[in-house]
Amino acid sequence: MSLAGGGVALVGAGPGDPGLMTVRGLALLRRADVVVYDRLVDPRLLDEAPPGALRIFAGKASGAHVLEQPDINTLLVRHARRGRFVVRLKGGDPFVFGRGGEEADALAAAGVAFEIIPGVSSAVAVPAYAGIPVTHRGTASSFAVVTGHEDDDKAGSAVDWTRLATAVDTLVILMGARSLPRIAAALLQGGRAPETPVALIRWGTTDAQETVIGRLDEVATRPDAVRLAPPVVVVIGDVVGLRERLAWFAGQSDGAAEARPPQLRELALQR
Ligand SMILES: C[S@@+](CC[C@H](N)C(=O)[O-])C[C@H]1O[C@@H](n2cnc3c(N)ncnc32)[C@H](O)[C@@H]1O
Repeated sequence: MSLAGGGVALVGAGPGDPGLMTVRGLALLRRADVVVYDRLVDPRLLDEAPPGALRIFAGKASGAHVLEQPDINTLLVRHARRGRFVVRLKGGDPFVFGRGGEEADALAAAGVAFEIIPGVSSAVAVPAYAGIPVTHRGTASSFAVVTGHEDDDKAGSAVDWTRLATAVDTLVILMGARSLPRIAAALLQGGRAPETPVALIRWGTTDAQETVIGRLDEVATRPDAVRLAPPVVVVIGDVVGLRERLAWFAGQSDGAAEARPPQLRELALQR
C-alpha cells in the first residue's frame, strides 16, 4: 500500500538499542513528514528522520501521559488527512502492550491508509541481552508475555496469576516490577516452586542495563530489586539459570559496554 498521498506507518522502534530497529522501519522513518514517538524510543533514532520532519512527543510514561490515547489517534488521522506521511514510532513491537491495535483501529475507522512494521519486542530482546533465552530445549518449551500493570484499586485482576503459575515454563512480565510482591505471592499460591529463579532487567539492551537475580520467594522485597524503577522486564523460570553461562552484555554500569564492538551499534544507523 502506498502511503505517499498521506498515511501512517506504525513502526516498532525496538527495545532500546537503536541498532535493533528493523531495516524497513528505518527506511520509512527516513521518509517521514511527521514522527509521533513514545518515551522509550531512543533519541538517536529521531535524528534519522529528515531534518524538516515534525517531531511530536506522545509521552506514555506510566501514569504520566503527555497525550491521551484518543488525542494520539486524532493527531495521526489529522496529519495523514493533510497528505502527510506519518511515522508512529513505538517502543519494542507496536502490538505487544503498545496500543498499536487501537491506533490501527482508529486509522481503519477513519479510512486512513496504514502499515504495521513489527519491532523487536523487549519481551524477548531484553532477556536475550541478559543472557536468558525464553525457551530452551529440555528447560522451557513455552513462555507467556504478561502485563503486570494493573490498578491497585481495581476489583479483581485481569490476569489469573494462580492459574498461570504452572501453566507455562517461562513467564515474561512487562510493567510488573512494582507489582512483583503481589504477583510472586499469587504464583507461589498457585503452586510455582519457591526456588524458581527470577531476573529483573532494567533498561535492557542499553548501556544502562542492570540485572538483579533472585528466587521467587524472596526477590520481590529485596532492596536491590525494589529500587529498580521502570522500564523493567521480569523473567520467571528455570531459563534464568542459563544466564550464568550465557550472559554476554552487561551494560556500562559494570564496565562491560566496551566489550561490545561499537561498529555493531552504529552499523544500522549509517545511511
Ligand atoms: C508499554 S510496554 C511496551 C512494550 C513494547 N511494545 C515492547 O514490545 O517491548 C512498556 C514496558 O516494556 C518493558 N520494556 C520496554 N523496553 C524495555 C527495556 N529496554 N528494558 C526493560 N524493560 C523494557 C518494560 O516492562 C516497560 O514498562
